[in-house]
Amino acid sequence: MSSSSVLLVTFIGFLFCVSNAQLDSTFYDNTCPNLYRIVDRVIWSAMLSDARIGASLLRLHFLDCFVNGCDASLLLDDSSSIQSEKNAGPNVDARGFDVVDTIKTTLEDACPGVVSCADILALAAHTSVVLAGGPSWNVLLGRRDSTTANQAGANTLIPSPFEGLTNITAKFSAVGLNTNDLVALSGAHTFGRAQCRTFSNRLFNFSGTGNPDQTLASSYLAALRQRCPQNGSGSTLANLDFTSPNNFDNNYFSNLQNNQGLLQSDQELFSTTGAATIAIVNNFANNRAAFFHSFAVSMTNMGNISPLTGSSGEIRSDCKKVNGS
Ligand code: HEM
Ligand SMILES: *[C@@H]1O[C@H](CO)[C@@H](O)[C@H](O)[C@H]1NC(C)=O
Ligand SMILES: *[C@@H]1O[C@H](CO)[C@@H](O)[C@H](O)[C@H]1NC(C)=O
Ligand SMILES: *[C@@H]1O[C@H](CO)[C@@H](O)[C@H](O)[C@H]1NC(C)=O
Repeated sequence: MSSSSVLLVTFIGFLFCVSNAQLDSTFYDNTCPNLYRIVDRVIWSAMLSDARIGASLLRLHFLDCFVNGCDASLLLDDSSSIQSEKNAGPNVDARGFDVVDTIKTTLEDACPGVVSCADILALAAHTSVVLAGGPSWNVLLGRRDSTTANQAGANTLIPSPFEGLTNITAKFSAVGLNTNDLVALSGAHTFGRAQCRTFSNRLFNFSGTGNPDQTLASSYLAALRQRCPQNGSGSTLANLDFTSPNNFDNNYFSNLQNNQGLLQSDQELFSTTGAATIAIVNNFANNRAAFFHSFAVSMTNMGNISPLTGSSGEIRSDCKKVNGS
């Protein structure tokens, strides 16, 4: 081989390493071989007393990744140096932190100081989807944990159910996720619950019109008004997918076709005139395999948002605290 082709091969190898973002599905194969067994067992046992826990865990990975990347910044509690993201508006009612802690302590027993909290969130999201009947995928691993949190970021970067499709699309785009990712990942609302206050504005006087949201099917509207009366508690829960509340399937998308999306941000994927999202909703409603495939791809894309790798950040020994603090 000529010296110039050796140089070329070296250069291409260098490009490959750099563009690979350093995450790798085999990252803990030697250092924590029982990783999957431990994560699966903890979540399985939590599900016995809490059918909702998988949905809550999947949501945590999303809430983490949209703020400073998938670095477990979400998990840090308030301290002298940390303003916790848990206290940001979109996160105040997030749940599942205790299960993350149980996974962490079990892993610290089995392979101390090895598995990051950011990777635990990615693994817990995957296991939760699989246990609810959804797709499996190769979870890329090797993220490290942040030493900082970004509460202001959590207030501005995480999509709100009340902002329009244009704004939500922009927030996904800001973290490198496209329209296909937006629709596929919104399919996570095929399980789990939402509080009345996240959609009750649609039920009685939508945007000051004096009428409910016109995109709500009348039978569904009546059921939601019973569940969430005008002067009722805003924290009452409703199923995000009333047809199969605990299953990971593609009914979320047929609900949207039937004007039975729960959140304004859900229904807008189908009901916004001329939107590119409509054809994707129709495809996923008609083709479960297409949804499952896209969801797996988009979960990998979301999990790749700005990870800390190499010697950046740390492996926290307690997900709630920066080491040594
Ligand atoms: C597209 C923008 C999104 C908006 C506006 C949004 C908004 C919401 C809201 C308001 C809730 C109810 C929270 C509560 O009442 O406490 C919720 C629940 C949930 N979200 Fe999203 N979300 C979005 C995207 C995502 C993504 C990308 C995922 C994951 C891939 C996800 C997974 C979930 C899950 C599983 C729940 C149920 C959680 C539980 O039962 O504890 N969401 N979302
Ligand atoms: C959408 O984003 C724009 C620009 O950031 C902002 O001014 C507007 O208030 C947002 N709309 C909603 C409904 O949140
Ligand atoms: C609906 O909201 C608007 C604006 O907040 C208000 O002016 C109007 O009186 C309300 N209508 C009803 C029927 O409550
Ligand atoms: C809700 O409460 C307001 C004031 O507290 C009252 O005027 C109204 O009639 C109540 N509406 C319903 C549907 O109970």
